Amino acid sequence: MQRLIPTLRRDQVDEELLSVINTLQICAKEISFRLHQGELAGVLGSTLDENIQGETQKMLDVLANQLLKDILLENPHVRAVASEEEEGIVEGTTEGEYLVAFDPLDGSSNIDINSLVGTIFSIMPTPKDGRTGEDMFLQPGTHQVAAGYVLYGPSTMLVFTTGRGVRMFTLDQKVGEFLLTDTDIEIPKSTCEFAINMSNYRHWEPQMRRYVDDLLAGETGPRCKNFNMRWIAAMVADVHRVLCRGGLFTYPGDSRKPGKPFKLRLMYEGNPMAMLVEQAGGIAHTGKQRILEVQPEHIHQRVSVILGSEQEVSTCLEYLQDSH
Ligand code: AHG
Ligand code: MN
Ligand code: MN
Ligand code: MN
Repeated sequence: MQRLIPTLRRDQVDEELLSVINTLQICAKEISFRLHQGELAGVLGSTLDENIQGETQKMLDVLANQLLKDILLENPHVRAVASEEEEGIVEGTTEGEYLVAFDPLDGSSNIDINSLVGTIFSIMPTPKDGRTGEDMFLQPGTHQVAAGYVLYGPSTMLVFTTGRGVRMFTLDQKVGEFLLTDTDIEIPKSTCEFAINMSNYRHWEPQMRRYVDDLLAGETGPRCKNFNMRWIAAMVADVHRVLCRGGLFTYPGDSRKPGKPFKLRLMYEGNPMAMLVEQAGGIAHTGKQRILEVQPEHIHQRVSVILGSEQEVSTCLEYLQDSH
């Protein structure tokens, strides 16, 4: 079976980018090992700290962040990193050709219940226009040269794109290598499955409520078919299901927190997942525009996310554009 780096080398990915990707897979193996040790590694539970997102940090959020940051910044090709868990960017080598944004541990609320979590990452080129600091990261997702995630499930999987389709690699625990297990991933165009946190129903805008009402109405309703719902509370796992068998995943805007309508982060969650979904033939949208075309104004910017099977996302967007 094919290993990660030789597979990408055949795609003519440049050696500097390959080196950054190699560093990411080393981090992923280390995080995977700690997670699978669970309680034995003494790393479960919460810290007393809050991150820049206003969330209580879990010990594993901190540990995964530290690991990724330390190991990536040792790589001479990394100009800087941005993380969900860090207030500002952290700079590496001034000559570094690449920027890496990451969500070190996605699905934090699943850590303590031994359920699915992941790591999401996005790689962009260092801009050559003299920008410095955080401004270097403020590029739309269309500039990403690679994106992916690691799903720490019953098996650890690395799902990855460099803009030439989506491939899935599975960690062979015996040899300690990610091996190619699926290639040319294609999201089915239509679906009977959706993923949304229904407990926020009362906070959504009326168009989103009407879209979900019609899904729930089943075959006797306007959509004329029955839909099933899944919610894992880890975007990595919900998007993985969409990539494997189709579906619609959304975390729409809501009115719970005044002035803060969105939950998912553009740079660490929206953009990398949007690149994967588009590369697999799906749609990734905010409701107003392609996620990948959003011009970020700051690194922790949040967005509304609607992604997955082409026909279903298009139908959802029609409901959202309807002003009645
Ligand atoms: P994180 O653990 O990195 O903060 O991200 C959690 C995100 C995302 O993974 C998931 O889809 C969503 O939050 C879950 O939200 P709810 O708690 O509303 O279910
Ligand atoms: Mn978090
Ligand atoms: Mn996350
Ligand atoms: Mn996280």
